[in-house]
Amino acid sequence: MRNSDSNLKYSHRPESMNGFEEVVEFLPATNTKKVEKRGPRRKYVVIGVVLGAALLSLTVGLLVWHFAYRNARVQKMFTGSLRITNYPFIDAYENSTTPEFNQLAEKVTDMLKTLYSGHPDIAPYFSDCSVTAFSEGSVIAYYWAEFAVPAYREEALDKAISELKVQNVNLRRSFLAVDSFESYPIDFQLARKFRDNSCNYFLHAKPGELTKFSSPGFPNSPYPPNTRCQWVLRADVDHIISLKFKTFKMDTCNLPRGDYVKLYDSLSIAEARTMMTLCGSYPPSYNLTFFSSQNVMLITMVSDDKGRQPGFMAEFKQQPSTMLCGGTIRNSEGVITSPFFPGHYPANKECIWDIQVPGNKFVKLRFNMFYLLEPGVPVSSCTKDYVEINNQRYCGEKQPFVVSSNSNKMMVRFRSDQSHTDTGFTAQYVSYDSENPCPDQYTCKSGRCISKERRCDGWNDCIDFSDELNCNCTADQFRCKTSTICKPRFFLCDGVNDCGDSSDEQDCKCPENNFKCANGKCIPNAQKCDKNDNCGDGSDELDCPAEPKTACTELTYKCKNNECISKTNPECDGEKDCADGSDEDADNCNCGKRPYTRKTRIVGGVNADIGEFPWQVSLHTKKDGHTCGASLVSPTILISAAHCFQDMQGTRYSDPSLWTAFLGLHDQKQRTTSKDVVERSIKRIVPHRSFNDYTYDNDIAMLELSSPVTYTDFIQPICIPESSHNFPVGKGIWVTGWGALSEGGSGSVVLQKAEIRVINYNECNKLLDNQLTARMLCAGFVSGGIDACQGDSGGPLSSLESNNKMYLAGIVSWGDGCARRNKPGVYTSVTNMRDWIRQNTGL
Ligand code: ARG
Repeated sequence: MRNSDSNLKYSHRPESMNGFEEVVEFLPATNTKKVEKRGPRRKYVVIGVVLGAALLSLTVGLLVWHFAYRNARVQKMFTGSLRITNYPFIDAYENSTTPEFNQLAEKVTDMLKTLYSGHPDIAPYFSDCSVTAFSEGSVIAYYWAEFAVPAYREEALDKAISELKVQNVNLRRSFLAVDSFESYPIDFQLARKFRDNSCNYFLHAKPGELTKFSSPGFPNSPYPPNTRCQWVLRADVDHIISLKFKTFKMDTCNLPRGDYVKLYDSLSIAEARTMMTLCGSYPPSYNLTFFSSQNVMLITMVSDDKGRQPGFMAEFKQQPSTMLCGGTIRNSEGVITSPFFPGHYPANKECIWDIQVPGNKFVKLRFNMFYLLEPGVPVSSCTKDYVEINNQRYCGEKQPFVVSSNSNKMMVRFRSDQSHTDTGFTAQYVSYDSENPCPDQYTCKSGRCISKERRCDGWNDCIDFSDELNCNCTADQFRCKTSTICKPRFFLCDGVNDCGDSSDEQDCKCPENNFKCANGKCIPNAQKCDKNDNCGDGSDELDCPAEPKTACTELTYKCKNNECISKTNPECDGEKDCADGSDEDADNCNCGKRPYTRKTRIVGGVNADIGEFPWQVSLHTKKDGHTCGASLVSPTILISAAHCFQDMQGTRYSDPSLWTAFLGLHDQKQRTTSKDVVERSIKRIVPHRSFNDYTYDNDIAMLELSSPVTYTDFIQPICIPESSHNFPVGKGIWVTGWGALSEGGSGSVVLQKAEIRVINYNECNKLLDNQLTARMLCAGFVSGGIDACQGDSGGPLSSLESNNKMYLAGIVSWGDGCARRNKPGVYTSVTNMRDWIRQNTGL
């Protein structure tokens, strides 16, 4: 076929040759006469055509430039509100389908059109406007207005709109008295989507009743992708709205994109009226309560193209707007809080407390919680929400602090602006004797009182460091360079900047051509990666250049296919390191996750959040109630401490039937009532065969549950680290449990958490009179004060790793008393137990 085609092509050639000959005849060179004769007419035609074409293309070009570029129109949308003072509010205005609504709406749009048409920078670009809602006061109208403006005129339009002032407008049909007018630019695409009305709800609070609403699909199915919903909430006149989110679980925050919910203290979606943007997921203990400043509130919800989360459930009610805050205080002590604390304070609020204590005393105010954070406002300026005391402004998020006055009076002023509200503050005021502000205690520079023993102990108890200044360092302390603070020697060269100026980490360098081990030891470079543990902690054999085949040592990670890799902590780090991918095995990596992305704000206390340590298990015996902790590692398996299951004083603790495990537990009192708690009996207890009840060596046990548990937001397994996993000295890790709150004290009702640090093995062994075995790990604080205690045993030492998962670093085992100085807690080192765990659990 192909060949015959080309033949055809060639066969045409002779014909075209003929054509060519004909053309040749008209060429000027071959017949001058002909050219001369026809020349003049042709010339003009050609010139005309060329000129015409040029003119045409110029015009087209100009038009294209004008319409497509210079005049390319940008779509713009503004939203806002205005107040009409000569109309009373009637119920019919709440419903946009009533004739009354439409009549007034028409008046307002007429007014807007008149207003816009009178301004040269606005009139030519106006396309449409509409009233979306009314609320009381006399009547507040919420509107949007749309414009199409050439890009080069956009700025002028923005300026003109923002400067527009409204006077009373005499319309053809009636007179509209308008006394305030606001407009804000909004995102055109987003605003458009909200106008399609398909997911709009209008709710009016019923007196004395809670009204519930939730995101689409809640709780049975996740909210759909590309959701654009809004809820208009209203209360009766002279009331405000109190809104509470009972559940809030959305995708992790990815603002300004992603999924989020916005609350407006208005019925228009103006950024300047945003009270709060919510995204991510909040634990149930987080107080998500909000208050409007007027009798309306608007909630919008936006999701991107991949909704997977349950969404939210909220309820609201109305309450009288006569809310008192501030006042004259003449008692010698008491508490003041921001309005509605711990709910979010309302926008547009001012409270003044005039505190005065008996004449010979001074006033001290201690802020226990302080959250006045406004996105984008530097804490140094405090221009939006703030607390002002004696002309000094405070804002942002602060640790507890104290403000004292050197007279018997103190003026405290709280102010919130019209956007972004926060949790606020709670503060305690006391009067004190100016001569002796802290009886029997040490007085910090800030006025805070701390116990005398805390002075010069190397810890910043005053928060302003004043307790650690001008100290004589003891033998087991060193002096930081710039701050001149004394710190435990322990923290010299531990890889953590304890001094703040890094002076504790200087001079830790090894001589040239030496490698510095993780434990601080120096070894010749040549010994690095020679497959011998020259450091003593194995750190010289980690992160060695990849060889075709890395030799397997106890420090290397072993893949399923028995190949070894020398990278530090390669499990589940998102990178495939093993050729067979077993380091990223989905089964293995589905652990250590915490369902809530937002953390409850707890100050001072050490209560864990609900769902913060979802692998924590409480082990009960009938006789003693909570006795030991444990960690969930699979649907049926718990890891705990062997010493919990030793028969003792006639009790057979080794008998599985004695024990009950509570999973998903937070508060011991709600053991039987909380729907999040799952109870299981124990089928089998396997303590380590070599557990030594004298030395506590090998203090580990495996427990099998009577039946598997289903993972929930409150029940999740923790990851088991590989034997090669490294938990470096100085790393902050969490210990949790319901154990005693102090040495010899009673247990806690609510799960407690404490952040402690991994302590150098050799140093710890010295402090604990050489009682450590190789299967133990020290963690805590040499200065004392924070530690596990009786009843925490068997519970987890949870370490957050760089892959954002929690790993079981240790098991609470023993200690010399609790929280004593120079007596850190001792834990079973889980990495050393990896093989035992594999053999006994198959995990
Ligand atoms: N052996 C204790 C128990 O049975 C735990 C002790 C932990 N002590 C400590 N100071 N870290 O609960």
